[in-house]
Formats: sequence, structure tokens, C-alpha cells
Amino acid sequence: MKTLLLILLLGTLLSSLSSTGQTSNQPSSASSRVQQLSPKKEEAAELQACAQMVLGGFLQVPNVRDQRFEGKVTEPTARCRGGQYAVQFRTTPWVDWSRYWGAGDSSSLPTGFLSVKGPQLRGVAGALLDLEYQRIGLIKFNLFDNSGTYQTFISGSADVSGPAVKTWPEMRLPKGNPYYLAVGGDGEQVCKGDLIRTRTLTGICNDIRNPLMGSTGMPFARNVEFETTFPDLGQTTLTQNRHGGRIGLLTPDPQVISRKLFTRLQSNPASCNAGFGLPNNSPDANCDYQKAPFFNVLAAYWIQFMTHDWFSHMDEGHNAPGGYMEVGCKSELVNNVQTPLSPEEVQKLGCRPADQVDKTYVLNDSPPGQFTAGGRTYLSRAPKTFANNNTAWWDGSQIYGYDEISLKRVKRDPKDPAKMLLEPVPGMPGPGYLPILLPNAPVQPQWIGQESVAFPDNWSIGLSFLHNLFAREHNSFVDEFRKQTAQNPNADSGVRNPSDPKHVIRNKDVTADELFDVARLVVAAEIAKIHTTEWTPQLLYNEPLYKGMNANWNGLLGPDDPDVSKALSDVMVHGLGTSKSAKKETQWYSVFASGPGIFGLGSTVSHYDITNPNDINGGINLFGSPFNFPEEFVTVYRLHPLVPDLIEYRDISKDPNRVVEKVAVIETFEGKATEAMRSRGLANWGLSMGRQRLGLLTLHNDPQFLQNIRLPRLDTPTQQIDIAALDLIRDREHGVPRFNEFRRQYGLRQLTSYDDFVDQTLPADSRARKQQMETVTQIREIYGTHVCDSSKIITDAQRNPDGTPINDCLGHPNGSVVDNIEDVDTVVGWLAENTRPHGFAISETQFVVFILNASRRLFSDRFFTSSFRPEFYTELGVEWVTHNGPGPQMMEVGEPNGHRQPVSPLKRVLMRNIPELTPELQRVVNAFDPWARDRGQYYSLEWKPRPDAASDPAFKQ
Ligand code: HEM
Repeated sequence: MKTLLLILLLGTLLSSLSSTGQTSNQPSSASSRVQQLSPKKEEAAELQACAQMVLGGFLQVPNVRDQRFEGKVTEPTARCRGGQYAVQFRTTPWVDWSRYWGAGDSSSLPTGFLSVKGPQLRGVAGALLDLEYQRIGLIKFNLFDNSGTYQTFISGSADVSGPAVKTWPEMRLPKGNPYYLAVGGDGEQVCKGDLIRTRTLTGICNDIRNPLMGSTGMPFARNVEFETTFPDLGQTTLTQNRHGGRIGLLTPDPQVISRKLFTRLQSNPASCNAGFGLPNNSPDANCDYQKAPFFNVLAAYWIQFMTHDWFSHMDEGHNAPGGYMEVGCKSELVNNVQTPLSPEEVQKLGCRPADQVDKTYVLNDSPPGQFTAGGRTYLSRAPKTFANNNTAWWDGSQIYGYDEISLKRVKRDPKDPAKMLLEPVPGMPGPGYLPILLPNAPVQPQWIGQESVAFPDNWSIGLSFLHNLFAREHNSFVDEFRKQTAQNPNADSGVRNPSDPKHVIRNKDVTADELFDVARLVVAAEIAKIHTTEWTPQLLYNEPLYKGMNANWNGLLGPDDPDVSKALSDVMVHGLGTSKSAKKETQWYSVFASGPGIFGLGSTVSHYDITNPNDINGGINLFGSPFNFPEEFVTVYRLHPLVPDLIEYRDISKDPNRVVEKVAVIETFEGKATEAMRSRGLANWGLSMGRQRLGLLTLHNDPQFLQNIRLPRLDTPTQQIDIAALDLIRDREHGVPRFNEFRRQYGLRQLTSYDDFVDQTLPADSRARKQQMETVTQIREIYGTHVCDSSKIITDAQRNPDGTPINDCLGHPNGSVVDNIEDVDTVVGWLAENTRPHGFAISETQFVVFILNASRRLFSDRFFTSSFRPEFYTELGVEWVTHNGPGPQMMEVGEPNGHRQPVSPLKRVLMRNIPELTPELQRVVNAFDPWARDRGQYYSLEWKPRPDAASDPAFKQ
């Protein structure tokens, strides 16, 4: 079945890649109402449509941005893959695959057909195809490096086309870097020796031929054309036409947007108390929030924990020095005119005009250079760039450090320096807790008293939980290694020193420092695996994404076809990966990767030699653009609505089904988290956050406490800040295009009015639809309307279905009043997206950003590809990552959603390091699904307790 699916995918994609032509961006001829047929007739019509689809040929990957695949398919294709339902909503801007057979819960499977399997295969394989087309388009059209290599990407170098270029002078270590001479100085730079054995502190030498890539302090990249960034600067006629001078750093007013569109509505404000709850953590407190039935609070903190590994605009918890700026609560749109807020209105809204904040750090704001290629002039970078003050690698840098200062906060156990320091806490079982930052520690004053970790900012109970958990996991690995060494001291550990590769390093010869570094590699890879195969499939809870995410890690072939996997891997690394042709190096590579999976690519090639740079580095692919996260990636991770105001606290030693207290998250801020953790223990917090649902990513769902948070580090009149408003301000400072252009740039259909935010698949009289319409009215009030001018072209990233350029009227008659949909902030836009694929906790706009960057994060990192080898990880390390712990693979009971699968990696980590949770976790399949939920049948989202949790009050709400 897996091989069949793969052949179907590869065959279809490759035949389309080898020719050229137009995409399916054609006017829709479908009527949106087609009469319902009997199942038999419907099935026949679908099969006929499939034949028509095949005869119509395959989609082509075009050479021009505005003709790319937009997630919309032809009518026969939609009918073949999803029947009438898929056809019916083709005219909406939202991607089609979400309405294919099998892409939802059991109601997405046909009834009365000859078999369910056929349509399900058509639907799911079709969805995967659409997603792969999107990924190919994204790799082709959305890579914009800000560090000086963009001209090469467009123009190529010598005889190599741009996307196939693999090394850049800009990625050399500069003179003055302590390792400059070690990597080759002025000559060819290639990392070697100790620099390549493990993950380095600042992230240099992950790519041994581009030592600087991904290291601390490198500029954030972009995923959108440089010309379209900083729309409020009006750099081009297109951006001027798009926004008509209506937008600015504080226009529309970010605090007003926050209060009107982001605030969680409370049925009983007194029992919420602005997010502080009630005295003594009374369980009678209540802060209403919109909850996701299939994703828990642990998952919310997980993603904050991840972002602290991947990126940071801030440096040691602060932004740029040199004064504070205002942050709004000054004006609102009244009848399309910006009007100052009266004191009464300020009070009614609850915003604060006296709030101020430090400005974002700017790396480079000198005017960017220009170059011409193919008759077109390009900017060589964005008008301003910003540094990523963390390593861009998925290297556990939030735990292990990313520069000299953060490293000082990483405490190793003096008794066994291979381990992290954990201190016993009286009365608490287990191996102990992270040590505390004392007043003489290298930290900002606000962090004193909280746990000592490399990335200490915005600390609260969830981060405390995850940092403690993974410090324990680090030590568990070391313990197991020590145990095996005691049993077998002379056995080959697997690890090698590239300076002396023939020398076998026995278990007993592995030094404490080496073992610490190996444990870091293992923990980082485990975290990446949890994120890819456990967190993401629960964030995107449906069958195509389960398959897609597993394909990124294990490959569509999975472990069942190791020979085919290995053969494909060889073809990729020695064939496609060394090609000078852009098409082979990028599009074919991306497609083939779905066979063996990205993880471990190049690690199974024949005759692997640790002294050969081609073997060590051979599995990575950068697609012509050095890896760093783009600003647009940070935007879609502004996920503050995930966090509840109050944690429903449970005590595992009593009845897990009882909520004994409601603890305000703000009462666990910074050092208070550490107190809370040490006094109540990992097991109770794990149970509490594992059972509670997180906040839906939608409007009217930002935590109250984050809108009013007090940050003592701010030397401002209020010392308070509205983080939800700040999310908008920071994006504007970083020049993120507004929502509609953002979508076009990523190859998603534009919206033509605020009304497009209403989910057309809902019945017209449903409550949800009415609420969405009310929100649309609010959006219209805030962002306004204008009389349009069809002579003004507003984008070069997309065209109208008839091929004409898109203008200010967005398809409405010239001179009519149209919505200022172009001005909607990106965060507002994706929160307002109500039409989402089944089980998607995020919107399709956020998702498309992940398709590109989540794949690239794996494709670019040699420790996840060709250096995933015992020579670096040890034999035990490779086994640990592959099997989710020591020993053979453990399999999950039954076949959840029809899949026989291993016990998931986070579940293993939790049971290993907090054994008190084992009875609770026995029945949990995915550690990010609320633990007491009955998962029911095929991707059910129902909020229903498993039998032993029937008395849990969470299910009565
Ligand atoms: C108790 C929970 C949280 C607190 C107190 C908190 C607080 C903050 C603060 C103070 C900032 C810095 C604003 C600035 O000056 O630019 C920030 C930024 C950010 N937060 Fe949170 N946050 C929390 C949870 C989360 C969660 C769950 C996520 C999910 C991913 C998240 C994602 C982000 C991102 C992406 C940024 C921007 C970082 C950057 O620009 O480098 N936060 N948060």
C-alpha cells in the first residue's frame, strides 16, 4: 500500500516536472450547486472524472511566480478526489485538498460506494500530491536570503544555475572569528576535526563548507519578494497602490485592534479577574476561552519551547537600547477617518495610551543594492534586516546554549560532567530539578530565582516543565550509556574522531565531554522527531498530514522497505544532489525525498567515510539559498492565543479526574514558575497540562494576562505591555507584508473582501456562521473601506483567473466601495481564517509557511541527514533516536486511525523520566491530545471522555 502510494506520487509528479506549461489557474467553470446523485451514480461520475483528470494531463511547474499552483484543482480532479463536496467549494479562496475523500473524520469517507478504500486512496494521495506541488512551488519561488547571496540565487555562478549553488563566500567565517584559521582562513574553508564532531555552541560548521550558515547573529531570511517587504514605506508603485497611504507602524491602532479583535470575551469577568483568577487558587475561578478539543496545553508550551530554540529577535531578553516608543491606544477609524480616542473610549476599550516599549534591534538599514537579471531589476536584500540572536538549527540551543553568556547558565553535574545538574527537592520523587539562577548569575534581574537554562526569557510553568523534562532525558541517556559501558566496557561505542578515524573508541574511552555532546545530539534529534511525528500530526489532525509528516521523517516507504529506501537515498545524494541543474537539484529532489524521508538522508550511502566531506555533508540540500528562518516564519508562530489564563490543576496522588485548583499562568511567571514546579512537582503539572485543552488560534482568544502583563524591565510609565498588540507592531517593524499579499506571495489565493473570512461550508443559519459574520463587521469597522481604482495594479505575485493583473478593485467594479482587505495585519488575517482543513489547529496560511520551512529545517541540517551516524551519535544514540529510547521498538496497542505505530516518542520520554505518569499515559496515543479524551474513530474531534475519566469536570463544559 505504501509503495503503491509512493509510486503514484512519484510517477505523477515526475511526469509533470519533465515538461513545461501552465498551471490550472483557470477560470472556474464549475457551478457551485450540482444535484446530489445516488451513491452508485456518484461513484460512477467520480471514476469518469478520474479518467478525465488523467487525460487532462498533469500539472506543470511554471517558471513564473504568478502562474504557480495555488492549491486549486480542475473540476474533474476535485470530483475524482472528493466528489461533489470538493467540487462545490472550488470557488472559495481556500485550498481544495481539505475536501477530498478521507481528509476529514469518518464523515469524509463515502457511504454506499463499492468500497471505501478506493476513494480514500484517491483523496489522501491527491492531497499529498497537492501538498508536494505546493512545496515545490515554495522552494522555487519563496527563498530570499538576506545575507548577500540572493544575486547568485537569481543569476547563478560560473556554470551552475542559482538554485544548484552550494557554497557562498558570505557563509565563510570572517577574520576575527576564533575558528577562522581552523577552517582554512583565506583559502577554501572546510570545517574539520573537533569542529565537525558535534553541534557547536554558536552553530558554526553544521554545513562544513558554509561554516557561518545558521550561526548565532546571522540575518533572518525572507520568504517574500524583497520589494514587497515594508509595505508602509511604499517602496514600489505596487505597494503604494495596494495600501493607498493607509497603513503605518501604529495605523490602524494596534491596541485598538487587540481590544476589539483579540480580547477573550468573559461570561463572568469577576471570576476571571483579568487573568489572575481567585484568591488561594480557588477552583471556582473561570476565564472563558475558546478551546481546541484535540490539542492540550502541553502542546502550547511545546511550541514556545521550540521557538526558543529556533529564533530570537531579542538579545538577553531586551530589544534595542536608546529609548522607548509609543504603542497606540490613540486612535480608531470612525466612518473611514482616523479619529483620536476620547478618554471614555480608552476606558471602555481598556487599552493604555501610556504604554511604551523598546524598539526592535535592526541589523542593517543601509539602502540595499540592486542588480539586473533577465531584463528585471531586483533588490539584493530587504531594506532592513534583523539578526536571529539564536542558532537557526534545531540543536536544543534553548537547553544547551547559543553564545558564551547563555552557556554560563547551562549547569553540568560536577559529579559526572556528562550530565546536566539536577538538584534533589525534599519530598519530590525522581532525579531532581534544574538548579536556580542566583543573584550573581549572568542574567537580567527579572530572571533571578527561576531555573538556570540557556534561554530563560518569558518563563512560566510550561517552560519549566519541558526544560526539567529534557534535562532528565539528557541524563537518562547518559545513565543508559554508563550502564552499557559497565556491562561491556570494551565494546565499540560507534563514535569516531575524524582526526583519527581508524581508532576505535570503546565505550570506556568515551570522555564525559564527548558523552555530554552526544547526549545533546540525541536530545535535539529526539525533540525534532517529537515535533515532526507527534506534535505536528496532532496540530494537523488528519490522514494526509499524518502521512505527510511521517514521510518527512521516516519516508512514505517507512521502515518496511529498507532496500528501496536506501536505493532512493543513493540516487538523491550521488545523483540529484550533485546536479548542476536547478530542476534536478530542487524539484526532483523534493519529490524523491518523500520516499526514504528527509531524516537520515545520505546516512545510508555505501562506503560512508567520516574523513570525506562529501559523505559527512552529502545529505543536505539548501536549494540554492543558505538556511535561516524568514521573518514570515516568526509571524506565524505568534501563537499567544494558545495559552489559557488559568491552569486546571490536578493532583495525581488523589483523583486525576478532579480539578483541585485553578492556578493563574501569570502567577507562574518567571521565578514563580520555579517555586510552583518545586512545590508541586513535574507529575502534577504534567497531568494538569496534559489533560487541559489549549486555546484555539482564532480571534477573540488572546489571554487576558498577556494583554496586561507587567514587565519590570521596562522603564516606562506603566511598565505594562499588551503582547497581543505588540505582535502586530513587531511584524510591522519587521516589514512583514500584510495578510492578502502574504498569501499571494506564498501561492495561496487572495481574498477579495472581509466576507471571505466566513466559512462557506457552514449552514447559512448556523450560530458559528452568524458569529463569523459579526466578526467580519468588526474587521470592517477597524480596517475600513475605500472607493477603488481599477487602473492601479497592486501585485505581481498572482493574477486574476482570466490572466489579467490584479488591481485595487479586486474584481469588483471600478469606483465601487471595496474592503481594505489589503491592510489587514497578517496575524489578524490568519486568526480570522475560519475555513480550515479538518483537525487543523492552525490556518492554511500558517501551514503553507511550515510546509516550506519545516522541510528546510530538516533538509539543511547534516546531523538530521548524512551525519545521523554512530560516528557522531554512538550506536546507542542512533538506536535511541530510531526507537524512541533504549532497546527494541515498542509498539502502540491497536491501530489508532488505522495505523500500526510505535509508542510515540514524547510518551516514552514522559514515562521514562516521570514514571508517576505511566498509569495515566497507558491509554494515551499522542501526548499532545488531551490525555483523558476518547479519540473515537478516524480522526474524530469529539470532546468525549475515555471511560475512566467520565467524572472529569472538563468534559461537562
Ligand atoms: C506565558 C506565556 C508567554 C509569555 C509571557 C510570552 C511573552 C512574550 C514576550 C514578552 C515577547 C516579546 C515581545 C517583544 O518585545 O518583541 C514574546 C514574543 C514572542 N512570543 Fe511569546 N509569550 C508566551 C507564550 C508564547 C507561546 C505559547 C508562543 C508560541 C509559539 C509564543 C511565541 C512568541 C513569538 C514567536 C514571539 C516573537 C519572538 C521574536 O520576535 O523573536 N509565546 N512573547
